Order: sequence, then C-alpha cells, then structure tokens
Amino acid sequence: MIFTLLLIYCTSLGSGFEMKSIFCSISDSCDCDYKPDIKGLEWDLYKNLYGQHMAQDIVSEAVVNFLQNENPDRPLVLSFHGSSGTGKSLVSSMIGRHIYGTAMGSPYIHQFIPTLHFPSADRVLQYRSDLKRRVEKSLTACARSIFIFDEMEKMPPGVIDVLEPHLGPYHILFQTNYRKAIYIFISSAGEEIVNRIALESRRAGRDREEIQPDELEDSIADAVYNNKNSGFYHSRIITEKLITRFVPFLPLLRRHVERCAQRELCQRGECQRKDVASAVGGAMNYTPNDSKYFSSTGCKLVPAKVNLFL
Ligand SMILES: Nc1ncnc2c1ncn2[C@@H]1O[C@H](COP(=O)(O)OP(=O)(O)OP(=O)(O)O)[C@@H](O)[C@H]1O
Ligand SMILES: [Mg+2]
Repeated sequence: MIFTLLLIYCTSLGSGFEMKSIFCSISDSCDCDYKPDIKGLEWDLYKNLYGQHMAQDIVSEAVVNFLQNENPDRPLVLSFHGSSGTGKSLVSSMIGRHIYGTAMGSPYIHQFIPTLHFPSADRVLQYRSDLKRRVEKSLTACARSIFIFDEMEKMPPGVIDVLEPHLGPYHILFQTNYRKAIYIFISSAGEEIVNRIALESRRAGRDREEIQPDELEDSIADAVYNNKNSGFYHSRIITEKLITRFVPFLPLLRRHVERCAQRELCQRGECQRKDVASAVGGAMNYTPNDSKYFSSTGCKLVPAKVNLFL
C-alpha cells in the first residue's frame, strides 16, 4: 500500500518512470529483473547468426517492437521452423540472453522439452492442467516471462491448446497481465516447405536473400496444422491466428558451415587454421543427392568435426 501511494505521488510529480522502476524493484513485481538490451540483440543476430536473413529481420523487428511497447495488446508469439542445426535454439537463447542478461538461467525464462516434460501421449489432461498452472503462476510473478517450447514436433497433440486463451488479446485477469509474455515455439515441422522453397530458389538462380517470409508463412501454418507430429495438429492456436510470426530457418550452405567452424576454431584460440574450417566444410553431408547444396545437419556437427581435424 505504501508503495502504491509513493508511486502515485511520484508519478504526479512527473518523475513517474524512474520511480516506477524503483517501486518495481522494491516490491519485486511489475517487470521483474527484465533488462532488455535491444541493440545487443540486433547486433548478436546480425553478427552471429549465419545465412538466416528472414530470422534476423523478423525476430529483430517483432521483438524490438514488442519490448518497446510498455502496454502491448497481446503477447508476442513466435514459431520457428527449419531443419536441424540451422540456428533455431541459438536464436531462442539469444532472445533470452538479451532480455534477462543471464543466458537461460533466469527464473523468468521457462523452457519446455516435450520428451522430458510431456513424454506420454496418455497423460495429456494432466500435462494441460500442469502447464496452465505453471504459466499462470509465472505470469503472476513476472508479466514479462518467456516460455520456450522446443521440439514441438514431439509434443503430444492437444497439450499446447490449453494456452489458447493466454495467447490472444483479451487476457488481463485480476492483477495478472497475460499480454506481456513472450512465447517461442520451435519445431522441425514445416522444414520440407522451407527446404523446397530454398531449393527452387537456388535452382532458379535467385539470391537466397530474395526469399521473402510471405512466400512461406501460410504454407508453414497449413503444414503444422495438418501434421500429426507438429504439436499444432488441428490446433485452434493456428485457426485463431494466434502466432504473431512464423520464422523460417533456411538450410545452410557449405560457406555457412565453414563460418561456424571458423568461429569454433577462434573460440579455441586456433583462428588461423583456415585449413581445418575448409576440411570441416568438406566432411559434411549435403542434400539433395544430385546438387549437394545444403548441409543435412546444418552447423550441428561442427564441434565434433573440428575435433577430428584439429
Ligand atoms: N545459422 C547459424 N549461424 C550460426 N551458428 C549456427 C547456425 N545454425 C546453427 N548454428 C550453431 O550450430 C549449433 C546447433 O544449432 P541449434 O541448436 O540452434 O540448431 P537447431 O536449429 O535448434 O537444431 P535442432 O532442430 O536439431 O534442435 C549451435 O551451436 C549453433 O551455434
Ligand atoms: Mg534446437
């Protein structure tokens, strides 16, 4: 009560903004220890994410607009799609790190991995109520909480729908504001669409960077809605259009794999070993069989291959 009076008094003096942050830190509520570093996020995406112009643009724009809005009218819901090793988990951890400054260790970043948290398709009802309770509890403690659902393709259908009411624009209940949360869904579902467009574009001699998100978004939405193994199978989250942006991750080329290898080498103090970076690039499997454009495991096996050649 005394804090509320202090806040009202100071707001009326015109110094509401600073007082609000003091109030929030003393009372351990409002936006918790949320310390967004927007420039840091944009720079990290630009500098450390290779070959993903759509993810760079969409994530920068969506996250920055969302964080700059003190009073968003709905939560930010991003859904990442693409093959293994293309940077989906990497981007989700960049977002976490630049919003809370503590890598993924913040108590306000909640990560769910279906094989660990929702392993059995017979327990959907139990998972739904546990998940709803956990999300509501977290958002009551911290409205700017982040929820990351990795490996959505392994999520039993029906679980995620329990969040449908929270993802829309209408939710402020009692003292909990559900509109400041960020949800990130990560999945390999839809990869065939992203990879087909990347291949067609390459065969047509188009620049990779010319591929636009609107060529892919509707098809990805259809694919995850119709795919039994997408976590969004027949989900109202899709029909009600509650995903703010679908984010396609393109399959990586040999030059991207070599950049990953080069970065790995520099981290080990072996920056000058260009020969190793090139050997790693040569040791990956590439698809399709005839033209071998795309690394079938993205950058995922890079550290193991660097070990082999260093
Ligand atoms: N586009 C990229 N730019 C830079 N590094 C990348 C990129 N893609 C992957 N990497 C590196 O490769 C490793 C694996 O990437 P990540 O975990 O993000 O893959 P993923 O897309 O989540 O794959 P999976 O679907 O198998 O989980 C990470 O160490 C990451 O740093
Ligand atoms: Mg991943």
